[in-house]
Amino acid sequence: MPHYDHNKETSGNLMRVLGIETSCDETGVAIYDAQNGLLSDVLYSQVAMHSAYGGVVPELASRDHVRKLLPLIREAMAQAGATRETINGIAYTAGPGLVGALLVGAATGRSLAWGWGVSAIGVHHLEGHLLAPMLEADPPQFPFIALLVSGGHTMLITVKGVGQYKVIGESLDDAVGEAFDKTAKLLGLGYPGGPILEQTAKKGDPTRFKFPRPMTDRPGLDFSFSGLKTFAMNTLHAHHLDGLSDQTQADIALAFQTAAVETLAIKCQRAIGETGIKQLVVAGGVSANSALRARLNKMAQKVGAQVAYPRLKFCTDNGAMIAYAGCLRLQAGQWGPPGFEARARWPIDTLTAL
Ligand code: KG4
Ligand code: ZN
Repeated sequence: MPHYDHNKETSGNLMRVLGIETSCDETGVAIYDAQNGLLSDVLYSQVAMHSAYGGVVPELASRDHVRKLLPLIREAMAQAGATRETINGIAYTAGPGLVGALLVGAATGRSLAWGWGVSAIGVHHLEGHLLAPMLEADPPQFPFIALLVSGGHTMLITVKGVGQYKVIGESLDDAVGEAFDKTAKLLGLGYPGGPILEQTAKKGDPTRFKFPRPMTDRPGLDFSFSGLKTFAMNTLHAHHLDGLSDQTQADIALAFQTAAVETLAIKCQRAIGETGIKQLVVAGGVSANSALRARLNKMAQKVGAQVAYPRLKFCTDNGAMIAYAGCLRLQAGQWGPPGFEARARWPIDTLTAL
């Protein structure tokens, strides 16, 4: 039986972790070193493959992770100048996500850890996202409020430290990224919708349509985005009779984006007011949206708060955030027992504090 090499399992600054992300449609691999920071980061996006189907096909996603993961691990190792002897921990996304896709990363991560005689840990995907701004030069300090906006989640979370998460608001229906994707599809913009919708909205006339700001006229920090998508559909149908012009397409895209962004900003401001925490971290795919960033920066300036974002390429799924979160937990001695887990659902407030 391979043994865990406790010399390699050194806590503190000697930790060097290989991170693997395969929860959805990106295969991400990175190497994070506690002393020297990020050494490499490679990504393969399956977007082109899934776009033919207008969305992620889970079985195709799993198979593609199988094809791409090992070559990407070799590439990340080469880019970092790392050998197996210099890696002393492996982190893989254990959930939430598509189970088949997660299993590819979990099985590969655990097998490598077994073969190399190092410890491994299953990382929570959303913990990865919300710690991603920590990889930047001027990292946010605890406590902060995290606005997590991705294709699967819209959440406001208070973060007192690593693993100390309290969900204070979330979407009761569609995630905001999902609403971007569905509205983009409706407008015939293709997949994935968020970035294309953002580009299309730049040509929109801001005075033409006004969409509602769901759930902002009542107290609370929860969200609802499915009505916004329906509003977009009804507007489209009302203006669609003689063909959807490029201008109408752009005007609807802009009205949708403005309403989504405004709603998020109103709730963030409310969360800052209610908690008294003046540090906001925004992460997940939708945090790449420049209209959202501009609006949140304006709000923060008004209330005297600070906002931190990951660099653009770490807003969407990546291996770096998993290597980083895994490194923190491995340094704290939290490696799991041999065997692996993959969870489609995994409430973030059940994680252990460091
Ligand atoms: O975090 P992520 O890569 O995957 C999940 O964990 O879901 O987020 C993907 C989501 C998609 O819904 C995508 O359309 C959205 O993030 N997204 C954007 C932008 N870039 C990605 N939404 C709005 N504007 C963007 N620029
Ligand atoms: Zn994600």
